[in-house]
Amino acid sequence: MLTSKLPNVGTTIFTRMSQLAAECGALNLSQGFPDFDGPAALREAVGRHVMAGHNQYCPMTGLPALREQVAAKVASFYGRTVSADTEVTITPGATEAIFCAVQALIRPGDEAIVLDPCYDSYEPSVELAGGRCVHVALSLPEFRIDWQRLADAITPRTRVIFLNSPHNPSGALIDREDLDRLAALIRDREIYVISDEVYEHLIYDGVQHASVLAHDELYPRAFVISSFGKTYHVTGWKTGYVVAPPALTAELRKIHQYVNFCGVTPLQYALADFMAAHPEHLRELPGFYQAKRDLFCDLLGGSRFQFRRAAGTYFQVVDYSAIRPDLDDVAMAEWLTREHGVAAIPVSVFYQQAPADMRLVRFCFAKKEETLRQAAEKLCAI
Ligand SMILES: Cc1ncc(COP(=O)(O)O)c(C=O)c1O
Repeated sequence: MLTSKLPNVGTTIFTRMSQLAAECGALNLSQGFPDFDGPAALREAVGRHVMAGHNQYCPMTGLPALREQVAAKVASFYGRTVSADTEVTITPGATEAIFCAVQALIRPGDEAIVLDPCYDSYEPSVELAGGRCVHVALSLPEFRIDWQRLADAITPRTRVIFLNSPHNPSGALIDREDLDRLAALIRDREIYVISDEVYEHLIYDGVQHASVLAHDELYPRAFVISSFGKTYHVTGWKTGYVVAPPALTAELRKIHQYVNFCGVTPLQYALADFMAAHPEHLRELPGFYQAKRDLFCDLLGGSRFQFRRAAGTYFQVVDYSAIRPDLDDVAMAEWLTREHGVAAIPVSVFYQQAPADMRLVRFCFAKKEETLRQAAEKLCAI
């Protein structure tokens, strides 16, 4: 009998809730993807490049034109000059970038600190590298870093600290002061940072993203990861990138070339064309999603759910303790889907050990206006 290398991994809650939503004919506000398409010019560009014969392997590191676009964006948004040749790598999704960064850093017996609640791919990646995740809970209700707890979790075996801002599932942000504190905490240790910034452009109310790319002390020891899927409303394209100093990039690429070798060629051509022709897309994105957040939250104002508006991402976390305090959040997500026709994700699944009295579910508002209105109407009727 084969002994599983990941005995605790089963079907994810995202797959289960999407299946349940389909079975029940519920509006699916669970899994994080838009129910609308990316820009027409971007989609047309894929067809054009497929027909033009751009259908063979591209360079292992990613299409040069797309790496140049990423480097130009990093310079204009975060004020850092990075080399498209030695510091930018295009990957099949941010998930592959996370996996390769972990394999590059974690050796058997190493520890990686994750801040709970956290994205579900971190821990299996660490375990497959022979490491162990140390879970440090963010402090509620604002999902901020508890610096004492983080400092206490560091041991001589700590090799990596994961950051994720804007944060899935909470929508909370890390600010510049947080980055300064982290830099001070790890200054004299060989600890690296994997900064998952896939929602870097989904930040609201005029706030600027505090990227590790803009931090002179953290960047030299960081992998900074983003996702074209999130930024261009094309999650199914599974195309992302990682920016890291040359020595770290070289190690990541050794792994990436044997995990997947390269990303999908015509998609990279299309993204490079679109980024060059439509720089306004990135500037308009916060306003585009803020309007969706505000519509959804304004409508939910008439419900019994309690919430503070997400500062970033396309997720809104709500507290349902005024409605069904008797249900844990997994039961609540199922009840909402079956009985009220709106699918959500329980926040506890992002934890190793969620607080017992937590009553939070996550809705995705990357949806058409009509979907949000219908969902809010159902939620207000509860
Ligand atoms: C925090 C976080 N990181 C990474 C990813 C994965 O991005 P990709 O689809 O580009 O692999 C997601 C997708 O949901 C995410 O929410």
